Amino acid sequence: MRRPFIAGNWKMNTTRAEGVALATELAKAAESITKCDIAVCPPAVYVDAVGAAIRGSKVGLGAQNMYHEPSGAFTGEISAAMLVDLGCRYVILGHSERRHVFHETDADINKKVHAALKAGLTPIVCVGELLAEREAGTTRHVVETQCNGSLAGVTAEQLAGLVIAYEPVWAIGTGKVATPAQAEDVHRDLRAWIASRFDAATAEKVRIQYGGSVKASNAPELLSQPNIDGALVGGASLKAADFLGIVAGV
Ligand code: PGA
Repeated sequence: MRRPFIAGNWKMNTTRAEGVALATELAKAAESITKCDIAVCPPAVYVDAVGAAIRGSKVGLGAQNMYHEPSGAFTGEISAAMLVDLGCRYVILGHSERRHVFHETDADINKKVHAALKAGLTPIVCVGELLAEREAGTTRHVVETQCNGSLAGVTAEQLAGLVIAYEPVWAIGTGKVATPAQAEDVHRDLRAWIASRFDAATAEKVRIQYGGSVKASNAPELLSQPNIDGALVGGASLKAADFLGIVAGV
């Protein structure tokens, strides 16, 4: 049985004080959460402070991005080891904003996936189609191509431990959520892709989150789909009550 996993991607939001307050509230509430894993991914500059606020709690710590090189002259970048040093367990890689605003390619993301795994981080690898791609009927091809590129060279054992987030780009931050059937179709295809590229046992283990305008009201139906193993939450992760409302839907 895959344990559901709900992660909050705070993106470029909150002040330090707001982030710490939100994390503190979640850490307290998490004491009574038993049915799923939860994590927060604050902006990199607040990872340390937020990590201190959730230390010893059931809330996991993640980052939103990293660079693949271990150290050196890479001005402005952050390594996997630095994230581990601050207590991170997860790192979001290949988020649609990284792909589309910062032009990260599958090859870039693949290097980051290998560096994260090597450092002992659990990557949350994001894939998802643009609206035009969905309308052209190429969703399956797009997400499989992203998986082939982003996950190249990953072993079955490594894959079993990582997290894939399916986030249709047209549903991110738009309020337009994929229907549970639309999301489940892609999640089922992704699991079939894993089974064909690796094996059925590995496919059964990989957690596949859905992301894109998830909120408390639509979470229960999405999360009840057989191949949806949790959610990657943007906007609704910025208020404890909203995020906990989603967690309650597991
Ligand atoms: P959203 O963002 O929940 O605000 O749509 C999701 C994401 O980008 O991970």
